[in-house]
Amino acid sequence: MSEFKNAKILVVGGAGFVGSNLVNRLLGEDPAAVYVVDNLISAEADNVPKDDRVTFKLGSIADDRVLAGLPGDLDYVFHLACYHGNQSSIADPVADHDNNTITTLKLFDRLKDEKSLRAVVYAAAGCAVAEKTFDGARATAEDAPISLYHDSPYSISKLIGEFYGNYYFLRYGLPIVKTRFQNIYGPREILGAGRWRGTPHTVWRNVTPTFIWKALNHEPLPLENGGIATRDFVFVEDLAEGLSLAAQAGKPGEVYNLASGVETEIAELARTINEITGNPTPPDIKPARDWDRSGMRYGSTEKSKRELGFEAKTSVRDGLQTTIDWTRANKDLIARCIARHDRFINDPQLGSWR
Ligand SMILES: NC(=O)c1ccc[n+]([C@@H]2O[C@H](COP(=O)([O-])OP(=O)(O)OC[C@H]3O[C@@H](n4cnc5c(N)ncnc54)[C@H](O)[C@@H]3O)[C@@H](O)[C@H]2O)c1
Repeated sequence: MSEFKNAKILVVGGAGFVGSNLVNRLLGEDPAAVYVVDNLISAEADNVPKDDRVTFKLGSIADDRVLAGLPGDLDYVFHLACYHGNQSSIADPVADHDNNTITTLKLFDRLKDEKSLRAVVYAAAGCAVAEKTFDGARATAEDAPISLYHDSPYSISKLIGEFYGNYYFLRYGLPIVKTRFQNIYGPREILGAGRWRGTPHTVWRNVTPTFIWKALNHEPLPLENGGIATRDFVFVEDLAEGLSLAAQAGKPGEVYNLASGVETEIAELARTINEITGNPTPPDIKPARDWDRSGMRYGSTEKSKRELGFEAKTSVRDGLQTTIDWTRANKDLIARCIARHDRFINDPQLGSWR
């Protein structure tokens, strides 16, 4: 029987891409209640599944009134809120602090004496730990050394979240389980979701949804640095299963990679997307991004397989097919969210659809 049956669960950032997929999955496991707190800075309220067991609170988890209003008898907490993403954090490091750092501290401090809690799962980032290399990656294990030199405030914030998690575990016994995500893709990642965050990456959130949208529009896919970088792509439904396993089987105080262990070149990702969507336009080869030194990376799967029984089962091709189908079915919603930022980006192509 699922440990979530009759449980009371809080999902912070539950309107977002990963959060909404997680809420959807949790609802299938018969919880008593799922509470979602989200300030919609990078999300759409409509992404939260409509269900009588879901209560949505609009607001920041750093807001004292929101914290004071949290139910006192929670069984599980998933902390997925962040200031999305690397580029926005470079454009506005203080906004990153307000939504990606102080948020985590205040949430953990608020929860520290709650005796009902069985697990507090934190969304950490594999990219903050991965070695910076263009010379062939090795699988990043959970105990890999962590650099003190980082390319973005986002990356620093994700690590600070781990530090605070460790502190509240050691000092107060808060049952923190840290999960390090690789590159997540899949349905419900809405380009342009939420408010303008200072850069075009408000719209072009991540490589996979960006490539899919452009490919469906028969536009050239931009290949920075020739597309030689590699990433470990994890389908969001696999990730949601990993989060669920981490809450139920993860050891408090421990950290687990939620990785596939498969390294995929960005150029290969582009080829597959162009093939599935039938995009005839060749890619556009671009220079490397000036802030990005992390060329090649993928995560080790050993510990999470051994201790959680987690395996990312969906192949990149199958996951892409599902994501492309979802994008086609939701093109009007996505186009509306993209178009909201027209005035800031000034690109006549934005929001177009052939
Ligand atoms: N998607 C990935 O590839 C990836 C990789 C590594 C780590 N992560 C982590 O996973 C988590 C979810 O990421 P995502 O891709 O779903 O991004 P997302 O932007 O869709 O989700 C983040 C959510 O947090 C909300 N939020 C922001 N500030 C908040 C605040 N102050 N209070 C309450 N809610 C707030 C946003 O509105 C959004 O709904 C994040 O913590 C992110 O750092 C994601």
